[in-house]
Amino acid sequence: MATRPVRRLGILTGGGDCPGLNAVIRAVAKTAIYQHEIEVFGIEDGFLGLIENRIRRLHSADVSNIITLGGTILGSSNKADPARFPTGYNEAGEPVFKDVTGDCLRHIEEHKLDALCLIGGDGTMTGAQPFIDAGINCIGLPKTIDNDLEGTDITFGFSTAVQTATEAIDRVHTTAQSHHRVMIVEVMGRNAGWIALYAGAASGSDVILLPEIPYSLEAICDFARFRGKHGKRFSIVCIAEGAKPEGGRPVVSRIDPTSPDPIRLGGIGERLADDIERCTGIETRAIVLGHVIRGGTPIAFDRVLGTRFGYHAVHLLTTGATSRMVVMRNGEVTDIDIRAVANKQRLVPRDHQLIEAAKSVGTCFGE
Ligand code: F6P
Repeated sequence: MATRPVRRLGILTGGGDCPGLNAVIRAVAKTAIYQHEIEVFGIEDGFLGLIENRIRRLHSADVSNIITLGGTILGSSNKADPARFPTGYNEAGEPVFKDVTGDCLRHIEEHKLDALCLIGGDGTMTGAQPFIDAGINCIGLPKTIDNDLEGTDITFGFSTAVQTATEAIDRVHTTAQSHHRVMIVEVMGRNAGWIALYAGAASGSDVILLPEIPYSLEAICDFARFRGKHGKRFSIVCIAEGAKPEGGRPVVSRIDPTSPDPIRLGGIGERLADDIERCTGIETRAIVLGHVIRGGTPIAFDRVLGTRFGYHAVHLLTTGATSRMVVMRNGEVTDIDIRAVANKQRLVPRDHQLIEAAKSVGTCFGE
């Protein structure tokens, strides 16, 4: 199957949604239809649609005027790993899982799909493995606001999330200044600090706290006091949801045992606000941006990136490549073995140039 010409292509969006998904769907579908007369089929709600056989033909009209839209016209799911699909609960209240890969393969066969374009993060790329093993040609496209996917310098969705977070932090500045407060803004990103680092740097946050650099409360409090003594009676802290104090653990907001990645982080900002207020006496507030940075229209960069990625995915399919993931490396769109990505997370290196640059303009990283 892997090497036969692709005449019918399935496409799905898996995991958490992000800005730019529709730009990718559009690029894949239009390139496939216009340039290669490939029939394109949209699989609804990620792997869930493959499991439940919810697969529909996509015509060019279906993907017109969607480049500006956030979310995904196909729907998504971050709980539907076919190799470990939750089917219910046992008497102890624990979820029961079943391998439903066989159902998916039947549905792929029924629709005569020659290949799959899987738009997602590490969960989706990991979920692709049983299909690759079964001989299905899977081409991955790297999506996530977290920017934590192995093998690519950037994922689409990240830049829009950074832009939205930056604008939100900019707005918080005024209240911080007017009320002489410490204002803490918590941003998503799981165990990676990419969003906090970039939004923190772009907004000129005084303190940036990343999961990769466990923070010292004392260092942060000293820094806020130091600023106060030098006429800056406010501080802005941009904190990643995965950040943790030295010797401590990240704050978990919920656990969903049916999800392949069951832990949801959140709440560290509020905890830090209490600690700073107690230690310094400076009035402190925390806000959580949460899903706000995952929504809305993609910025131009993500639309362009999505278009380049989508085009390259179809190029791979039509030149006989198999099991690849499209990536950006040193400004060039290229591709790597999709299997190299599974179960990995790309974290911010402690010697990242932007950390050095931010430190050089006086930003505190809680050290
Ligand atoms: O991976 C994207 C992401 O938004 C993370 O930044 C965040 O930790 C998680 O998904 C939230 O997941 P959910 O939408 O299930 O709450």
